[in-house]
Amino acid sequence: MLGSALQRARQDFADRNPNSRRHYDDARRFLPGGHTRTVLTHAPFPLTFVAGRGATLTDADGHEYIDFLGDYTAGLLGHSERRVIDAVTAALGNNASVGGIHPAEARLARLMCERFDLDRVRFTNSGTEANLMAITTAIAATGRNRIIAFVGGYHGGVLYFASGAAPWNAPYDFVLAPYNDPTRSEAVIDANASTMAAVIMEPMLGSGGCVPASPDFARSVAKAAKKAGAVLIADEVMTSRHGTRGMMDLLGVRADITTFGKYIGGGFSFGAFGGSAELLDVFDTSPESARTNVVSHAGTFNNNIASMTAGCTVLGEVFTADVASSHTARGDEFRSQVAEVLARHRAPLSVSGFGSMMSLHGIRPTPTVPGDVAGRDNELNEIVYLGLLQRGVYTAARGMVNLGLAHTDDHMVALLDRLDDLLDELDPHWS
Ligand SMILES: Cc1ncc(COP(=O)(O)O)c(C=O)c1O
Repeated sequence: MLGSALQRARQDFADRNPNSRRHYDDARRFLPGGHTRTVLTHAPFPLTFVAGRGATLTDADGHEYIDFLGDYTAGLLGHSERRVIDAVTAALGNNASVGGIHPAEARLARLMCERFDLDRVRFTNSGTEANLMAITTAIAATGRNRIIAFVGGYHGGVLYFASGAAPWNAPYDFVLAPYNDPTRSEAVIDANASTMAAVIMEPMLGSGGCVPASPDFARSVAKAAKKAGAVLIADEVMTSRHGTRGMMDLLGVRADITTFGKYIGGGFSFGAFGGSAELLDVFDTSPESARTNVVSHAGTFNNNIASMTAGCTVLGEVFTADVASSHTARGDEFRSQVAEVLARHRAPLSVSGFGSMMSLHGIRPTPTVPGDVAGRDNELNEIVYLGLLQRGVYTAARGMVNLGLAHTDDHMVALLDRLDDLLDELDPHWS
């Protein structure tokens, strides 16, 4: 139905972006697909960005965009947040890399433990690694191997369950359960109780389309995991930005291990996993430890100075618990304004999400389970993405929109107005 309009939108995008096209073609000579992040792929080619400031991005052809993607939640603070850049610049001027301990590592550990109610935390280079290490912790603690994950979930490049377990996943013994289906999930957990090391869940499917867990679902998964003696891993790599202690807390669930990433690194690579001393002290290889069954967790850049320093500034100064709480409320309000714009138009679009994260979907009603997201009209999602780009708004090709700290009320009104304008143009397709 949208076929010719979509072809025109793609052609228009290509005509407006010759420099990005050139960068992309050059890059493909050495980088398969032209880049190293599969998520960036879309037709006809992804943009190349040359600058970012606050809430705006500039591409290689000189177009400026309001950045409503925020690097898939890692860019919560906006581009090059001054306090973070100043702190990291000072730290790197002193020492860029050390094969030893430096103070920012323990400072950030304390900030994280106090903020997210953890006894202990360990750092990694990415959210993917944090989840791999959380799973390792659970296997070590339980002596079991099976991991329950949810269809539609995403826990990293090798922990990918968009429509079942991806063949390139890390070779754990995964069994999948249905997201937001308490009864069937409980049954899967019960059936695997004796062999199960962990259940890993996102409080809201992030890359799976910003589908929040219902409190009932989250609580029943937690209860079933506890009954089975398995470790509940909450993947809050994206969602720890919500509320004062992350989204699981808002759902009324306390996980055994929580994983983190994205915005806490303030733009630098980051991951962490934390939880009870009982579980995390399996990594205590110190002479003081009486443990015999210790597990090694190494990594050259685990405590890198840039990420540790940035994290201290992010949690300690910029995104404090109070800021996090009010930003969640601001995001909820913004999402309801987006929903009002969509409701005024005929194009069958809906919006899902929680707090400052949302996703536009080419389907109505609003998806509540991964199967609903899979039923979207992908052409409609794509034409909305390209139409917003044409109007100077950058979102994710898959529909994700994130509200960041650098967005002013004017930026939010601009998104609402430009979306409205785009949908005026699309409406005749559904007359
Ligand atoms: C919920 C969730 N877990 C884990 C990851 C992986 O994090 P990273 O990309 O830092 O490896 C992501 C990344 O998008 C994510 O959304």
